[in-house]
Amino acid sequence: MKFTIVLLALVGLVAAVSVPPTNKVTVADHDFLEKQKFLLEIVYRVEDPLMFEEYIKLGQQAVHDKALYTHYDSYMEKFYESHKMGVLLPRGEFFGALVKTHHKQAYGLFNYLYYAKDWETFQRNVAWARMHVNEGMFVYALTLAVIHRDDFQGLMLPSIYEIFPQYFLNSKLIYAAEKFDYNTWSKYNQYEKEFNDVYYRNNKHHNQDYFYMRDFKTYQWWKLMGLGEHWYPAEKNFPLRENTYELVSDDKYASFMKDIKIFWHPVDYTRDIEFFNKHSVLSYFTEDLGWNSYWYYLNMDYAFFLDGKTFGLIAGSVNSRRGEWWLHNIDQMLARYYMERLSHGIGEIPQLSWYHAFELGYDPELVSYNGVGYSYRKNYFEIQAYGNFDILNQIQSHYKRIYGSIVSGVYTTQDGQKIDLRQPESIEYIGNLLQGSTDSIDTQFFNDWYMLQYMYLANVEENDYEVTPNVLLNFESMMRDPITYSGATWITEILRLFKNQLPSYTEEEIGLVGVEIKNVEASELVTYFDMVDIDVTNLMNDKMVFVDGSFVWDKSLYARQMRLNHKPFHFNITVQSDKQQKVVIRSFYGPKYDEYGRLISMQRNRENFVELDEFVYELTVGENVIKRSSDDYLWTVKDRTTYTELYHYVMAAFDGKYELPLDISEPHSGFPDRLLLPKGWESGFPVQLFFHIAPYQASVEQYSNFDSSYSSGIGSGTRYIDNKQFGYPLDRPIDEFELLSMSNSYFMDVSIYHNNTLKPYYEEYENFGHFDYNFYNHYYTKYFQ
Ligand SMILES: *[C@@H]1O[C@H](CO)[C@@H](O)[C@H](O)[C@H]1NC(C)=O
Ligand SMILES: *[C@@H]1O[C@H](CO)[C@@H](O)[C@H](O)[C@H]1NC(C)=O
Repeated sequence: MKFTIVLLALVGLVAAVSVPPTNKVTVADHDFLEKQKFLLEIVYRVEDPLMFEEYIKLGQQAVHDKALYTHYDSYMEKFYESHKMGVLLPRGEFFGALVKTHHKQAYGLFNYLYYAKDWETFQRNVAWARMHVNEGMFVYALTLAVIHRDDFQGLMLPSIYEIFPQYFLNSKLIYAAEKFDYNTWSKYNQYEKEFNDVYYRNNKHHNQDYFYMRDFKTYQWWKLMGLGEHWYPAEKNFPLRENTYELVSDDKYASFMKDIKIFWHPVDYTRDIEFFNKHSVLSYFTEDLGWNSYWYYLNMDYAFFLDGKTFGLIAGSVNSRRGEWWLHNIDQMLARYYMERLSHGIGEIPQLSWYHAFELGYDPELVSYNGVGYSYRKNYFEIQAYGNFDILNQIQSHYKRIYGSIVSGVYTTQDGQKIDLRQPESIEYIGNLLQGSTDSIDTQFFNDWYMLQYMYLANVEENDYEVTPNVLLNFESMMRDPITYSGATWITEILRLFKNQLPSYTEEEIGLVGVEIKNVEASELVTYFDMVDIDVTNLMNDKMVFVDGSFVWDKSLYARQMRLNHKPFHFNITVQSDKQQKVVIRSFYGPKYDEYGRLISMQRNRENFVELDEFVYELTVGENVIKRSSDDYLWTVKDRTTYTELYHYVMAAFDGKYELPLDISEPHSGFPDRLLLPKGWESGFPVQLFFHIAPYQASVEQYSNFDSSYSSGIGSGTRYIDNKQFGYPLDRPIDEFELLSMSNSYFMDVSIYHNNTLKPYYEEYENFGHFDYNFYNHYYTKYFQ
């Protein structure tokens, strides 16, 4: 009996994990559960005072006995000194991971958590920091420690957007959540009908302002259903997410959730009402939670200040590819973003000029946890107006140094060492230099250059300490702002410069004699907007109830938002092979036409391709028909279990009523499956697919040295399928005709369609004033899979 339950939960909770399924289920023991419970509780309402008596006692003092650390360094020393002198960033101040003064302190705190000899020391420090250290800094250091400590495999924190919804959702929602009060709500609910009739339905001029934008429906979908911006009780007692259908049939799940009162509130994306610009239409994408948290976790996994050796980011000499990986991610994120632009008829990403006005303003409409609104930038803002020339000069000289080295083909380090930049493997050096990572060959020069760029754009000076909230100062919020993409084009420009100086691939390097892709059949590619409930319980102000010392989590708040998704799709690839052999099959998609409808030449276009998938396959002699579905992709994840759900799973297990599978952690490093495809057109958005087969060459056997059931293998060095450079075979200049003529590659034209899921509500929606749970039935049930 128990076994089935675990399996059920497994299916429900861990969808497309970035590792192949294993049959082994490791179940959490009591010791593990105690730790997991602590981690979930310590970040509960992290901006409020700590309410758990037990942890308050633990956290009276940080541990200063050096014997209790496996390593004690100057960062820790300085952190301790700053604490004694009372100059740590106080609680209630905005924290920016990319603010130099904040970074130094966060680094010290991280070391206190990371190098703590045992759980007890770690726990005391965490409890202490929860009460005494700035909340933003605390969550940053804790997240890093939980990800990187070897002895914490399987342990997890709630998603960053659940700990701090403030970084992700607009201030209107934040305000509504913080104001939520159950008694008031009950009263209000009594009058709801009256309120609706008088103020909403009969008021024809209701919020006219907000209706100006063509695409408003996605943003303010609730208006089409006749709903208002307030809290609704969830009709079904669970949050909406793309994989809920797997859970609701599970009795155990229902029993965990039944005593929680769940409320949801609709939430909007920004639509820049004050200074509208064309980029505004993309905010559903640039403000997507999955998109932003992907970038956040990538920068936590490969944090620029963590050296690869100590933190196992470069296990084994052959696989020291963190710099290359980071760079490849920027390249791919820009390509993916460009596809979304094209879908809306917007073309090339404008390059940021440090000296001229930047066309696209941005008002994030966010409010920091301390109540201060985020700063905004008007259209055609002159960044130079900040007058921060010292930082600008540093940025410029770093840039010139890298650029010049690539052109000359040699990088000369501070101590005179010469590095050949005409070798493909040197990409690793370039990546590290651009990220300003500790593993870079010239930390002297490049240590803080990445940080400086964002400080400059956010108008922060080198020694500034009190800082106005700005989305550019944290990884979890910078992708919201169009300037981030325009700034990143400087990085991809260097990448191109480097790649373009390498020799083109020879026929041996990209061909595969005896293997022919004869045909590919693609299923329909369809995008649509679905809805998700985002757990914002952490914002609640309601009294916390404890019974016999245990916290009773009996209410949850969710923000309901429309977001991009696609139907699962698949390709049937027919391959002829003259012998049995192991190969790697890659698939990509890219634009066909530019924003003016002109065909883009392959030479230029290869930079725009987005890699969908790569996998190892054993070909047999003769014809092979390979069906590959988007659900099989190794690097993507489905919606994660929400904070509320997780807590109740863990508590049920803690009380012995449930066996918690350890692989519940759903690799935080996965890319959201939902965002694989750009929004299609109802008439079909033309794109092209590209398939390529290469012989399998790898020096590290996949999945061999970490437990794939609960780790995504950060630092195991085995995240990569083979030895090919990221982006292969489109990463270097190519002869279009050569590629077209090769039997092991295949191009095809397809269209991406968009299914307008809101159409039924445009007129005469019969259940006006109520959320349509038929929508739920259409998009969250097996039917759609
Ligand atoms: C792919 O092959 C499967 C059978 O294996 C078939 O059911 C499906 O319709 C095929 N897809 C396409 C797009 O032809
Ligand atoms: C769009 O979705 C509806 C269900 O809501 C379905 O009936 C229809 O066939 C879909 N259209 C396309 C093109 O997939």
